[in-house]
Amino acid sequence: MYYINSLEEYERSYKKSIEEPKQFWDYIATTFYWRRKWEQTLVWNFEEPNINWFVSGKLNITENCLDRHLKDHANHLALIWEPNNPNENSITYTYAELHAAVSQFANTLKRQGVYKGDRVCLYMPMIPELLIAMLACARIGAVHSVVFGGFSAKALRERILDAGCKIVVTADAGLRGHREIPMKEIVDEATADIDIRSVIVFKRTGKPIRMQAERDVWWHDAISQVDSVCEAEEMDAEDMLFILYTSGSTGKPKGVVHTTGGFMVYTGYTFQNVFQYQSGDVFWCTADIGWVTGHSYIVYGPLLNAATVLMFEGIPTWPNPDRCWQIIDKHKVNIFYTAPTAIRSLMAHGDEWVVPYKLESLRVIGSVGEPINHEAWEWYHRLVGKNKCPLVDTWWQTETGGIMISALAGISSLKPSFAGLPLPGVQPVLLDTKGNVIEGNNEEGLLCIAFPWPAMIRTTYGEHEQCKQNYFATFPGYYFTGDGAKRDEDGYYRIIGRVDDVINVSGHRIGTAEVEDAINEHDNVVESAVVGFSHPIKGQGIYAYVICNQPPADTNQTRHEINEMVTRIIGPIARPDKIQFVNGLPKTRSGKIMRRILRKIAEGDTKNMGDTSTLLDPSVVDTIIAGNPN
Ligand code: PRX
Repeated sequence: MYYINSLEEYERSYKKSIEEPKQFWDYIATTFYWRRKWEQTLVWNFEEPNINWFVSGKLNITENCLDRHLKDHANHLALIWEPNNPNENSITYTYAELHAAVSQFANTLKRQGVYKGDRVCLYMPMIPELLIAMLACARIGAVHSVVFGGFSAKALRERILDAGCKIVVTADAGLRGHREIPMKEIVDEATADIDIRSVIVFKRTGKPIRMQAERDVWWHDAISQVDSVCEAEEMDAEDMLFILYTSGSTGKPKGVVHTTGGFMVYTGYTFQNVFQYQSGDVFWCTADIGWVTGHSYIVYGPLLNAATVLMFEGIPTWPNPDRCWQIIDKHKVNIFYTAPTAIRSLMAHGDEWVVPYKLESLRVIGSVGEPINHEAWEWYHRLVGKNKCPLVDTWWQTETGGIMISALAGISSLKPSFAGLPLPGVQPVLLDTKGNVIEGNNEEGLLCIAFPWPAMIRTTYGEHEQCKQNYFATFPGYYFTGDGAKRDEDGYYRIIGRVDDVINVSGHRIGTAEVEDAINEHDNVVESAVVGFSHPIKGQGIYAYVICNQPPADTNQTRHEINEMVTRIIGPIARPDKIQFVNGLPKTRSGKIMRRILRKIAEGDTKNMGDTSTLLDPSVVDTIIAGNPN
């Protein structure tokens, strides 16, 4: 592995990565195990886009996550699993045990007729079998598409269809806090009219479920019929590793495609260097594996580094809001990586839930998913990090595959609410709205990336043109992140937030168009417009302006129905926090909704509405302000 362990080394590496990027990445890539070395490091253009890293290199990522460690780390813990209920026992896997479990499930998949290139949908709770199933897919060259367990049957169905998944792996039910999520029932509803070859069901809770003859198989029955020796499939560096759906500013969620070689090199490199992982450390990332953070920093990044990773089934506030601190002391966690929304929610429960815990094992703490406000930063640093742990604020995206801008723990200096400096290999630029590069410091602009990095998005599944339009067409020659950022006098980046129609709710991306489509399904709704607004815990909340056909007789009832509609179509995460019924929306003469105005009203900031002269009917603004409940 490539270690950057001083500021001088960071600066040297950064310079090298700009001046000689191919040599820089070549060196890092050689620290992994390849069956055949690549012929060219990078062939690329951002026009099509067409990105190829480690061209003609052959490998299997699971040989790097598992087999490679068996010589020296066979009995070293790979995984510690902490169940939802604190009274249930934890489960551990050594590298040897995980290798066997992955191989066995890989053989199971083969027996179910899954081959290299096939897509497998994983709709599972946070249990070891999810990680095992992902690696089993990678072992045989199948492409995993993990769908977050909070998505509805309809959202799951769309993702299964879009990726053309041959089989689905699920559990009878999932446990999160006091709730039981009927996962198998949701899969049944999602697949009612789809021809799925098989559904493999892990028994987690024992909840009675219906098993469909000739389609559904129990995990434990299926694995008992195969052995635990499975030769890894040889993959090309650019073969697909996984698809992960994420919301953009337009249309339906898109399947972001990541490929094998680049994703491996980048997640391995960033995990090691951002967190300064040391052998024997226990690393805990609280994300759900259904999001990219779990893919990169629960599964691949840690295992590539022979790390011990902790996986938690439950939620930070159950049974009490000290669960995280209990787990850290119980398992002697050294590195803790979570999201600002979790920090704010724990902060709101009061210091008394943290103070009694020693948290002596903690060495590094991290944040991801949304801008972390000053207050939350200070609280996290002081009460959890006890003023001694570096707090790395890591900026990245589903599309970037791994951390792009962040301090290196204990190496670079920290500034509250700043992500910091780019990692070596990352070339951020700020552009103005016309696409001119903004040079110098103390500037603000649109955050773009000027040069490829190994884990960058390759395409959106089945829709390459969409990928081009979304990320590469706005500013030709650059990857556009959709975020605005500020660069301070020291060149440190502070992420301001999305500049497109994406709302970041509790660190989860929700497209406004998606929510509007769901709201519009209600019989009495003519049109809707959705914007984000500041929310003390979630970061952003969802504010919906809704025009009804008939004025609702009972507004609370209609609100309830709209919420239910959104829950059914997308999932509970997309439920609007506020719904305002309006008679009209501020539209330009060309029919475009001016969301800028709606955002200001949602924030309760109605003093200066800016230029409304281009509106078809400027009076609509006053009517909306008058009806705003804030
Ligand atoms: O707006 C940025 C925000 O989350 C978006 C990416 O969301 P997603 O693809 O779901 O990935 C989240 C986990 C990597 C970004 O465009 N974001 C992520 N990390 C930060 C952040 N905003 C500010 N600071 C961060 N550290």
